[in-house]
Amino acid sequence: METILTGIRVNGELTLGNLLGALLPMSRLAEQYKATHKINVFVPDLHTIIADVDGDLRANTLKSLRYYAAAGLDLAHENIAIYRQSYVPAHSELCWILDCVATMGEMNRMTQFKEKSGAGDGTNVGIFNYPVLMAADILLYSAKYVPVGEDQFQHLELTRNLAERFNNRFGEVFTLPAATAEQAAFMQGLAAEGKKADGIRIRDLQNPEKKMSKSSRAENSKIMMSDTPEAAAAKIMSATTDSVNKVQFDMFNQPGISNLLQILALVTGDTLESVASRFAGETRYGEFKRKVADAVEQFMYEFQAKAAEVSDEDILAALVRGEKLANEIANAKLLEVQKAVALR
Ligand code: TYM
Repeated sequence: METILTGIRVNGELTLGNLLGALLPMSRLAEQYKATHKINVFVPDLHTIIADVDGDLRANTLKSLRYYAAAGLDLAHENIAIYRQSYVPAHSELCWILDCVATMGEMNRMTQFKEKSGAGDGTNVGIFNYPVLMAADILLYSAKYVPVGEDQFQHLELTRNLAERFNNRFGEVFTLPAATAEQAAFMQGLAAEGKKADGIRIRDLQNPEKKMSKSSRAENSKIMMSDTPEAAAAKIMSATTDSVNKVQFDMFNQPGISNLLQILALVTGDTLESVASRFAGETRYGEFKRKVADAVEQFMYEFQAKAAEVSDEDILAALVRGEKLANEIANAKLLEVQKAVALR
């Protein structure tokens, strides 16, 4: 069985970008593939502590898993494993071994590190090393598909490079995850048609050149999953557009409008093509934004209501089961690695 795997840090409330870029596609894929694939959804709590945590890490963990359940992830299904990274020590162990395969040159090229290391010499080493831990998260389970937003694609390429280098040096131990264009197509349900796709990047509502980010200071630039549905709709209404006066998908020339089309497609579960064709010929941005705002409001309303219904007991029971299974798989792979390196 092939494995589909993903994780989301829990530094605080999630953004609509986290949800539409990773959590929702993963939950939809899990529903589609749970009979034939292994589905791993884990909370990268060790990745979380590279930065400040708003609120309590354990409470944030439960909340993020509640969101997956609200998005349709079947916590009780036998092929679906949910677990916390720190409960599976093999992740940290493999990270160290891969550290001895990774080079300073390739790590220095990671754009996320460059963006996050603003504090210069005061930056913690975890921020630098975090893509290697991410590679370990993926390779321990031989995951083929890793649904993540486009900002994480460089880390997926690094994972492939580290796995290949390790295999060349020590023997065929790791399965490489699919290349990023194939990942993106798989995530967006286009793989069966043999299509390639771009990754998903939900943009900042005020400055659509940038990705929507929790750390942005402008409140109107981001929708947080704790926003009221009305507040979320108001933020869509105030989103930056352009003066082209055409509703069409053209990320290069019309990033604001394209972002809204992308959001509309993801919240309604429709394809981008079909959503864009519905607005062909529309020149009134106000009308268009109203439709997107209504859809987002409805989505937030339903999503938050579903999340409130998920019980902590169900999540904790699934974690106990998932962590037992994850330790078995991860420890078996780690032993293979240790033998290959002659540590065992
Ligand atoms: P993190 O926690 O920063 O982000 C979680 C997920 O949300 C996606 N995302 C977005 N997607 C589209 N548009 C946006 N504006 C946007 N903002 C965030 C991210 O791409 C990501 O998929 N290193 C990872 C967590 C991780 C992981 C892993 C993921 C650790 N190990 C193994 C997959 C597999 C991270 O920091 O993502």
